[in-house]
Amino acid sequence: MNKNKRMTNGIIGGLGIVAGVGMATAAYAMFREPLDVALERRTIRIPHAQGKLPQHGLRILHLSDTHFQGLEWRERAKINQIRKMAASLEYDLLIHTGDFWHNEQGYENTIALINMLPAPRLGAYGVLGNHDYVCYSHGDVLTRNWDRYQKRQNQNGQSEESQAVNGTHQSGSGQGGTISSAQSISQSGSPVDEISDRYVRKNSQTVTGFAQEAVQFMRYIMNVPFELEHECYNSIERLTAGLEQCNMQVLTNRAIHLCDHPDHPDGVDIYLAGIDDVFEGKPDVRGTLAEIPADATKILLSHNPDILDDPTSRAFDLILSGHTHGGQIVLPWFGAAHTQSFHLDRHEAAGYLKRDDTQVYISRGVGEGIPLRFGAKPQITLLTVKAE
Ligand SMILES: [Fe+2]
Repeated sequence: MNKNKRMTNGIIGGLGIVAGVGMATAAYAMFREPLDVALERRTIRIPHAQGKLPQHGLRILHLSDTHFQGLEWRERAKINQIRKMAASLEYDLLIHTGDFWHNEQGYENTIALINMLPAPRLGAYGVLGNHDYVCYSHGDVLTRNWDRYQKRQNQNGQSEESQAVNGTHQSGSGQGGTISSAQSISQSGSPVDEISDRYVRKNSQTVTGFAQEAVQFMRYIMNVPFELEHECYNSIERLTAGLEQCNMQVLTNRAIHLCDHPDHPDGVDIYLAGIDDVFEGKPDVRGTLAEIPADATKILLSHNPDILDDPTSRAFDLILSGHTHGGQIVLPWFGAAHTQSFHLDRHEAAGYLKRDDTQVYISRGVGEGIPLRFGAKPQITLLTVKAE
């Protein structure tokens, strides 16, 4: 065999190995990891809660982002795993932090899951997520977000020219503002603008500039939620009524007082609140908080952790969220490919974090819209909340 033929065979062999590894990875990400639901156990301690939480802790079974859409064998496999895991668990409270369904084809499996879980002594509560309201089209996601990126770039260019002419500096607006509706995240002065300003910079019109712009666009779409077209609308009335028939209450901008044997060592005396979805609903943290005594121990359910952009949310001791799916694709050292969140760093796509005195737990969720996970297994969580 001559040298050229050996080299050709080597290249073909190398490409074959790369293709084989790629196919195996894709198969794992499509058919193995999304179906391997993990049970995570975590203890969270809340200061100043003595006498308000059971001595052994308040046990919360936390589900999120089931995204049911009528994919029968996949969804049934997940439901069966959760049924087996939950059968061996004792918990006081069942919660679901939204995206129950991906579209209305997921209604039957949503109801089957909630019906199947044993009703705990303190009840079952949920909040709505963006997918509970809306089905999105992903067909034009790149062109749509490229247009948004270009628009931001042009705005930045004009702003820089204006500053040069006026000799002034315009600070970003909206920082620390209250999120009162979905509009607040799509208009000027919103978190979109603040984060866009971080990732979009005017490039020189050179080959290097073109390459830099491509890299910046990639960074932009990794760090800013995709803007997606509404394809259809789901009936939240149908979903809410179905959940209530299964004894799960949906908390939309309201709080309930969980009070069971107060002053008893196993008693509970806390407020549980739920907030409407940040992207598609009308979250009202201030109004919800007004229902709760200031010195109460307070837990907030919010599908989207971006509620943390509203400083009023920091009045809660604990916020439980989902929405991110843990990034869905998480690479070693690199972190999550995307979080669909304005607030989070890509290394905070799931798990425990803290903002001021507010503790936050973000579930990776059970399901996914695009059936693909790598490095971000689906999960349910048994949280034990204790007084510090
Ligand atoms: Fe979701």
